[in-house]
Amino acid sequence: MDVKTVGVIGAGTMGRGIAYAAALGGYRTILEDVMPETLAKGMAWIKQSLDEGVSRGKVESSSRNTALALIETSSSVENVCREADFLIEAVPEEMELKLELFTLFDKFAKPEAVLASNTSSLSVSEMAEMTYRPELCVGMHFFNPVPKMRLIEVVRAPKTSDKTIAICREVGSRMGKEVVVVKESPGFITTRVNALIGNEAFAMLEAGIASAEDIDKALKLGLNHPMGPFELVDLVGLDVRLSILEYLHSTLGEKYKPNPLIKKLVAEGRLGRKTGRGVYDYSSPSEPKK
Ligand SMILES: NC(=O)c1ccc[n+]([C@@H]2O[C@H](COP(=O)([O-])OP(=O)(O)OC[C@H]3O[C@@H](n4cnc5c(N)ncnc54)[C@H](O)[C@@H]3O)[C@@H](O)[C@H]2O)c1
Repeated sequence: MDVKTVGVIGAGTMGRGIAYAAALGGYRTILEDVMPETLAKGMAWIKQSLDEGVSRGKVESSSRNTALALIETSSSVENVCREADFLIEAVPEEMELKLELFTLFDKFAKPEAVLASNTSSLSVSEMAEMTYRPELCVGMHFFNPVPKMRLIEVVRAPKTSDKTIAICREVGSRMGKEVVVVKESPGFITTRVNALIGNEAFAMLEAGIASAEDIDKALKLGLNHPMGPFELVDLVGLDVRLSILEYLHSTLGEKYKPNPLIKKLVAEGRLGRKTGRGVYDYSSPSEPKK
């Protein structure tokens, strides 16, 4: 089908970014959230991001104006479903919420509309099974912050059709992203590799092989990673990383067993930047210290 209208459900961190990319890609875009104030904040963020794009020379001012004219908001999932050819949900990572939405999508969306989830870890096939159109259900895993991150992992569930994957490639490319296709499996590609790198970094730190600063420096300067594994885990949250490792350990095996040091830091409340201390200490305004 020819996608003209993209519906985005959830206007939080990811949903507003996805709506930004969709509108900039030339799609009529409808953004919806259960919280009216989040919707307003999401729209303000989109405007600000477009303005910043223009001032940094990344976005043409005519594209900014077109994108803004293409975005609208809605307070009704049903209405978004009726209008959209491509629906993406970006509500919190709870299966119950996703299942409720996929049920609504299936009930109210156009028969040929694609139903996508931005889930980072949940089973797309479980969502697809709530519908009478599993062949049109798919994962579209965007990265944060969406305007800057160029990748989308398109997650193919067992019943997702080739046509749906082709539509996702087209939509992703018009949004200015590169697409990779991955079979539904725990951690997809990026989360799985990243969890192993992060866990190995903790194993080296625990064994006293090198300091956190030197491990970060080695990966940045020697392997060209934009951030070191400890800088990254402090940003993501050690608790978030630990729960990912536990999930991968339970589904993929021993290789993913969380290192005891990350468990210890989480137990001590050292969750990263959000608590002022993770691997590094952010409590003073100067450079972080170990
Ligand atoms: N934050 C990230 O870095 C990131 C990266 C990739 C994927 N994801 C995935 O994206 C999804 C959203 O994450 P987020 O960080 O944007 O969450 P968020 O909490 O920032 O935003 C979720 C939004 O959904 C709204 N919402 C809740 N229930 C709703 C409903 N029934 N209908 C409409 N809106 C509803 C909330 O009001 C909130 O504004 C999750 O599945 C998450 O795993 C997140």
